[in-house]
Amino acid sequence: MSVKSVLVVASLALSIIIGVVLGKRDSGASSAGPARPADRPLSIGLSLDTLKEARWAKDRDAFKKRAEELGASVTVLSANSDDSTQIKDVESLITSQVDVIVIVPHDGKAMAKGVELAHAAGIPVIAYDRLITGTPLDLYITFDNRRVGALQAEFVLSRFSDRTRDKPLKVVRIYGSKTDNNAFMFKEGQDSALEKPIAEGRVQVLHEDWADDWKPENAKRIMNAALTKFGTDIDAVIASNDGTAGGAIQALREEGVTGKVVVTGQDAELVACQRIVGGEQAMTIYKPVEALARRATEVAVQMAKGKPVIAGAGIDNGSGQVPSIFHDVVTVTKDNIDQTVIADGFHPRDLVYKAAPR
Ligand code: GAL
Repeated sequence: MSVKSVLVVASLALSIIIGVVLGKRDSGASSAGPARPADRPLSIGLSLDTLKEARWAKDRDAFKKRAEELGASVTVLSANSDDSTQIKDVESLITSQVDVIVIVPHDGKAMAKGVELAHAAGIPVIAYDRLITGTPLDLYITFDNRRVGALQAEFVLSRFSDRTRDKPLKVVRIYGSKTDNNAFMFKEGQDSALEKPIAEGRVQVLHEDWADDWKPENAKRIMNAALTKFGTDIDAVIASNDGTAGGAIQALREEGVTGKVVVTGQDAELVACQRIVGGEQAMTIYKPVEALARRATEVAVQMAKGKPVIAGAGIDNGSGQVPSIFHDVVTVTKDNIDQTVIADGFHPRDLVYKAAPR
């Protein structure tokens, strides 16, 4: 039997499992309150970690727009990166008897409690972009996060393909928040590309650290520590997202070496696109969040209606396989920014070609 047919059978099995699970959940086996009045539109609860990074507002707006198109209402709550607030947010969504809850967890482990509370009330839960670990989950929808990391590292390696053991490529690595499962997936992707050249001595990791809460100021602190230890003899900074890239670039600016050091990023934030056009940042990973948010809204509505959802993939979150949907990502540099981010209308051209704020 060919790989393809095995995959088809597996995904069919997966979607059937989803259908079965949801059917059971929706049959009111739970202690949920009275059935939803027929005239009340489907309601979705969207619990966000933060709106600190620009992308989350785009996710939220696209989610709300698609829900409106599908006749569903959405309650959006943002926890400002506080776990107890996010648990309270989920509790209030449960109390307001939403039909399905979509969560971007601040802390993937801590949010298992929120999922268990929702399940106890008979409400299915979707983890959006970031995985929730350690408890059964109805669905996970995100981008191919390991590929994000692999593309970041491969880009840097391609810029220094002439390096050897005698003159190794010197890099600083800035990872994301340790409470975010994605930060580990990005790192794993980077590791997969760097392992061999590191083992062969062609790449030297001078300094590496995790930026708490993805804060640019924490990334700047990490970059300052590297500059203090190694001076400006650094070839590249593998920053896991645009926010941390911005923090590192601030430190590089203070040393007058922006543009000389190759800096990666992720999220195609407007300010990062401006830095790329201006030469201070070399690349970012574009994640079409509107498409992801639209898809997540569609599957949330299906779940709320108790309809089976075709997931097509799966991931182990430490509590068994979670049906999953993975969207692809794109490397963006100044050479293809017009054909990608701008062509998609992610940012207007005139703003991208404006100088980045300093
Ligand atoms: C990650 C997300 C990235 C980045 C980061 C900071 O989970 O996938 O796009 O924005 O969080 O919020």
